[in-house]
Amino acid sequence: MPKRLHLNAFLMSVGHHEASWRLPESDPYASWDVKHFQNLARIAERGKLDSVFFADSPVLQGDPGRRPAGKLEPTVLLTALAAVTDHIGLIATASTSYNEPYNLARRFASVDHVSGGRAGWNIVTTAGADAARNFGLDDVPAHRDRYERAAEFVEVTTKLWDSWTDDAVIADKAAGVHADAAKVRPINHRGRWFRVDGPLNVPRSPQGWPLLVQAGSSEDGRQFAARYAEAVFTAQQTLAEAQAFYADLKQRAAALGRDPDGIKILPGIVPVIAATESEAQKLDAELERLISPEYARRQLAERFQLDPADLPLDEPLPANLPTEDEIEGAKSRFTLIVDLARRENLTVRQLIGRLGGGRGHRTFAGTPEQVADTIEDWFHSGAADGFNIMPAVLPSGLTAFVDHVVPILQARGLFRTDYEGTTLRDHYGLPRPADSLELTSA
Ligand SMILES: Cc1cc2nc3c(=O)[nH]c(=O)nc-3n(C[C@H](O)[C@H](O)[C@H](O)COP(=O)(O)O)c2cc1C
Repeated sequence: MPKRLHLNAFLMSVGHHEASWRLPESDPYASWDVKHFQNLARIAERGKLDSVFFADSPVLQGDPGRRPAGKLEPTVLLTALAAVTDHIGLIATASTSYNEPYNLARRFASVDHVSGGRAGWNIVTTAGADAARNFGLDDVPAHRDRYERAAEFVEVTTKLWDSWTDDAVIADKAAGVHADAAKVRPINHRGRWFRVDGPLNVPRSPQGWPLLVQAGSSEDGRQFAARYAEAVFTAQQTLAEAQAFYADLKQRAAALGRDPDGIKILPGIVPVIAATESEAQKLDAELERLISPEYARRQLAERFQLDPADLPLDEPLPANLPTEDEIEGAKSRFTLIVDLARRENLTVRQLIGRLGGGRGHRTFAGTPEQVADTIEDWFHSGAADGFNIMPAVLPSGLTAFVDHVVPILQARGLFRTDYEGTTLRDHYGLPRPADSLELTSA
């Protein structure tokens, strides 16, 4: 069978475009309305997409005065989506910097049980100082420390998921034996960051381990992804950069003894779809017109660790920006944005317009055929195993993608016409981890 694409719908509020809530069609209260997200998950499932995904950070992000900033905790939301869907995978972000492994292992194992094997965890280290200040810290922990903690966090979590073997529960009513207690074992983890006895208080879940997803692209982020991730979300502006990232990550995974095909790479795309190219561009321009430049400039200044006054709107980026090494937040996104502005000679105002749709993800305005063409091009050019679909406006952008782009991809033999398995791992063609109790317990 020819290689097939993987498609994840990255869902956020009423769309990824920061001004999407201002369109006449948008419900400005939808960010905390479970019915809105249930509707979106059903649309994505109608399109046979692999999964839906919710980003998260334990902090109020953005200015609540300017856009819908409050939102629901995503693992709670996933359980509500599990109840109204049957096939689609359900992925949520959770931070390794501001959680404890026991709680999170339990939460994701529970979502995996509740959904019948459809849970995935986007493992993030959480970039901002504002989040740190919600957890008793004055500043964001150093980038390197965050990734070191993340690695140990994942080690502990996976050991906890394996602390029950698959066959531990016997439920022998006649003999009065519910589980073979020898197959439910402590993990006795002792490390730099965590001391965890275990075992987990949830039996091994349908997928063994929920799917492990990751989204950091710095040196530390890539090395972490190469070791642990099974799917990687990434922001890439050009085909050449995406190819370089793809080759680098596959090579790093192979160097660690992993099957390079066991790590699926999904660059983001913000498709702005209309029946004609000029209509799509009109919609894109309309969204750009609704951006509040002052608000966007403040966000950009924060990312660059500068004062907003250092970024005059009608001038290019200043020459004396910090280097990636000096950024303690999201390093790779910083570099992507600076490269984009310099490559295309953009003023700050133009840059803000370009970032409005997807915060640095590639925006593509065009007809369904053109969107399908660019997806196919990147897929066949060694740049992607699939895509993170980030509609600028929801639900209309997702509906347009599912009803008009997916059928083209299916007709070209690039995408499934029906689900072939039952779990999220099945959709991504990834194996179920064997229970490694014998290997991990003392
Ligand atoms: C598609 C995508 C989704 C992301 N979702 C989240 C998220 O939900 N929460 C978060 O804190 N960071 C999120 N990130 C940011 C990454 O986890 C990471 O902080 C960022 O890419 C910079 O990582 P780096 O410093 O290793 O380059 C996301 C990144 C991408 C590309």
